Amino acid sequence: MTRPLTPREKYLELLGDAALLTDHFRDLMAKYQAGDRLVRSARAFAKGQSTAALVAHHVRWAEDEGYERGFAVGGGASLQGADDALNPQGAPSPQGFRVSPLPGGETVQEIIDRRARSTKLKRQRRKALHARVVHMDTPEPVGILFHGDPHLDDDGTDIELAMLHRDICMREPGLLRACVGDVLNNWPDAGKLAVLYKKQGTNIEEAWKIAEHWMRGGRWLGFVGGNHDNNMGQLDATRLLDVETTPAAGDDLRVELRWPGLDPLRIHMRHNFSGRSQWNPVHGAMKEAQMGGDCDVYVQGHHHEPVIMKARTKQGKPYIAAKVGAYKVEDNYARRLGFATGIGGGEAMLLVVDPLEEDPQARFDLFDSVDRGLLVLRALRERRGR
Ligand SMILES: [Fe+2]
Ligand SMILES: [Fe+2]
Repeated sequence: MTRPLTPREKYLELLGDAALLTDHFRDLMAKYQAGDRLVRSARAFAKGQSTAALVAHHVRWAEDEGYERGFAVGGGASLQGADDALNPQGAPSPQGFRVSPLPGGETVQEIIDRRARSTKLKRQRRKALHARVVHMDTPEPVGILFHGDPHLDDDGTDIELAMLHRDICMREPGLLRACVGDVLNNWPDAGKLAVLYKKQGTNIEEAWKIAEHWMRGGRWLGFVGGNHDNNMGQLDATRLLDVETTPAAGDDLRVELRWPGLDPLRIHMRHNFSGRSQWNPVHGAMKEAQMGGDCDVYVQGHHHEPVIMKARTKQGKPYIAAKVGAYKVEDNYARRLGFATGIGGGEAMLLVVDPLEEDPQARFDLFDSVDRGLLVLRALRERRGR
């Protein structure tokens, strides 16, 4: 004589329809096996309660849980069967009629789940956008040319020098590009600053053409937008780089260069680090380094004031905090504020990294003369047989 089935076994048998073996069904089974509220349904079934009541119970349960109706009914019962069970023949409905349900709609729970998934992915992407890892193929010495604020459409900008630096990046082996923002003046379309377009010799269409030409060349290792890119007009140069393949962000970017089996080099770039001191022009960047920053190089622009500071953290880690200057060498606004202008220098800075160098002090260096930086880069590459 065979053993009578337990309620649990009966329910498993009831749901054993192959047509129900979908993700929903597996999910439902997992809940059942975990002793969820379906156990109560199984007991009710075993006690011989009516099928219609059981079906109706399952449909309501499924709706509560956000499942499609059909999958919770079990035992091959159809959606129509479920409807009938919920509204048996002759039973009055509140409106006096019933409308067949629309397929394909989302339950509230499904909408919430979809939204939660999408928000989580967006948060992960946003976080990753500001901290990129770059895997270097070989441990050869590399240079990174940091362009200072270009302001390419400004009448006071040394546009020839900006183009020369772009060309150098395109032809020099082992040299990569980076920029700390303010590619264009990008004056707003309306408001007080809008009149400034009329005062400069480059209009909005020409400005964008120049920016496209300047940005498209060489290999970009890092780009952060400046206040002129992000917060003014429509010409945000950050859009000219593909963020899928290039470390580029609107305001804050950490880039970690990795070589197999060697220490990484970390660079933190911002248009401006917060915090100022009249006695220390790189106070903001140094504050970042001293207050737990784990980077080797901190670079910013914005103040059009070239400065390089070499220091060590309290733990003895050498780092460089720097402000790159600007290609905008003639600056009426700066003159009005009492700053020297028209002098030039430090429009770009060149970071040279030798990943195989074991002395942490000699592993990387930053030059405010591009020519001098190139000499060192070439010498190091030659020494390493490149
Ligand atoms: Fe600027
Ligand atoms: Fe700026």
